[in-house]
Amino acid sequence: SDQSLIRNFSIIAHIDHGKSTLADRILEMTHTVDARGMRDQVLDSMELERERGITIKAQAVRVAYTAKDGITYQLHLIDTPGHVDFTYEVSRSLAACEGALLVVDASQGVEAQTLANTYLAVEAGLEIIPCLNKLDLPGAEPERVAGEVADLLGEDPDAIKRISGKTGMGVEEVLEELVLRVPPPSGDPDGAPRAVIFDSEFDQYRGVVAYIRMVDGTLKKGDAIRAMAAQTEADIDEIGFFTPKMTATDKLTAGEVGYVITGLKDVTLLRVGDTLTTKHHGATEALPGYKEVQPMVFCGLFPIDGDDYPDLRDALEKLTLNDAALDWQPETSDALGFGFRVGFLGLLHMDIVRERLEREYNLELIGTMPSVGFEVTLTNGEELEVHNPSDFPDPQRVAEVREPFVRAQMLMPKEYVGTVMELCQEKRGEHAGMHYLSADRVNLEYDLPLSEIVMDFFDQLKSRTRGYASLDYEITGMRASNLVRLDVLLGGDAVDALSMLVHKDKAYAFGRTLAEKLQKKIPRQQYDVPIQAAIGSNVVARETVKAFRKDVTAKCYGGDISRKRKLLERQKEGKKRMKQVGRVEVPQEAFLAVLELG
Ligand code: GTP
Repeated sequence: SDQSLIRNFSIIAHIDHGKSTLADRILEMTHTVDARGMRDQVLDSMELERERGITIKAQAVRVAYTAKDGITYQLHLIDTPGHVDFTYEVSRSLAACEGALLVVDASQGVEAQTLANTYLAVEAGLEIIPCLNKLDLPGAEPERVAGEVADLLGEDPDAIKRISGKTGMGVEEVLEELVLRVPPPSGDPDGAPRAVIFDSEFDQYRGVVAYIRMVDGTLKKGDAIRAMAAQTEADIDEIGFFTPKMTATDKLTAGEVGYVITGLKDVTLLRVGDTLTTKHHGATEALPGYKEVQPMVFCGLFPIDGDDYPDLRDALEKLTLNDAALDWQPETSDALGFGFRVGFLGLLHMDIVRERLEREYNLELIGTMPSVGFEVTLTNGEELEVHNPSDFPDPQRVAEVREPFVRAQMLMPKEYVGTVMELCQEKRGEHAGMHYLSADRVNLEYDLPLSEIVMDFFDQLKSRTRGYASLDYEITGMRASNLVRLDVLLGGDAVDALSMLVHKDKAYAFGRTLAEKLQKKIPRQQYDVPIQAAIGSNVVARETVKAFRKDVTAKCYGGDISRKRKLLERQKEGKKRMKQVGRVEVPQEAFLAVLELG
């Protein structure tokens, strides 16, 4: 097709500002989807995605738009995942575009992901068309929000489009603007083929489907191709584009967006950000920007019923087929048995994976508290990476511990600045800046340890600002911190699943909370059970579960025969849910109570 008539764009927005609704309206107005085939939010296809109302997988739809100049343009609308965990995927989706519609809810204003996505779009060199959305709402304040957006982009506030994705008002004008302002792709149609992979997913019948944007040249059905970073070689079984249905064609040329199917069985072979070329007479230089994403958050996942271990392994294998960012290895815990240490991009990624394991694979799981990856330098100069607090070396051998830090942006009405600054101080934050977006709204910047964010930062931020603050962050690097391993001992034995790395100043408070919680949850046993929280050999908190008194047991096991049988049965049932730590029986529930502590 004629390259000069192609327009590739994304819609970027803060969560809930109306990205999917606008996309639906565009598909409907261009008759890409007829009214009957129209589901709400066609682009968000996964069930979980719908329930959580967020977009996880990027998608790409070809749309024919006949503009007022009478010319029919070929638009590709590339959907982006709108969450900080998936920033790299967003950046690759934007790398496949020349333009972006920036949607801002006119009843809310600029939020943290508005900023983060705008920065990514600017970095990618995109033409940005800002739109104030939800103008149909009585609470819309287009004048105020236009001011915020104008400041952000250096535009004339009166020139910013006023629209409603819901009613369709202004949407056609946006498409006109898009066709005028967003430049056509500039790749070389006669060059050696190069395509950027901006998403890939595994289909159990067809294998890996790679979503691509052709940059130079042409790829055809049957071509032998090569992914330049992963060194994967395969043949193209099918090539096509989305309407939004997969529609096969014979080739894709420079500027076009679509998919290739190769029969490969593993998404790690065609990773997001990699460059596809042909095996013969292919390109020698890959497209810029390839990065292998690293897991940032780790937790142990254990089946509540030990018999489910093989099923958990199978389920993780299946999920990995479709999730190149998921990383896991077997882990054995004295307390929780056989399970896996799993690495995720962030907390949302973790929640999604866990929920899918429980829901789609019917597994009941215990997850240990999430932690981040630490770097440790030992006194003998050796370097370690620690993803599991129970692997943390003896404090005597530790010369330095480093942990990942982030630069966080928090946007909020100005009356909450004080309480948020307080929260950030409590979380070991360092103030990094503050700007007014408008008379009433503030952007507060802090450097914070990722481990504190992983704990409960977001919930606290939301509750202290009644939901009015939004948060986005990027990892900025590792910093040395005074971290110690806090262990929990039951009857003198350390419970590996409950160890954690905490800042030294917080270890005492944490230790006390943990010991108190456990004391309430562990039933009486034949002996007194001491519960201790300790840093190395230094005990920082202590509680005791007192032994049974003789008459209590006697009373229990008296009574009539049926009552006794029932008790025995219940006891047997309960046994399954007990874990043995040293000589102490700990109910599963005690671990849950402590681990969900956050
Ligand atoms: P994520 O996919 O979670 O990032 O959200 P999104 O930005 O795609 O938002 P979505 O389109 O799901 O819209 C969020 C909510 O706002 C939904 O309840 C929509 O019905 C509503 N909404 C979207 N656009 C408009 C609009 O123009 N007017 C009104 N009144 N409501 C809208």
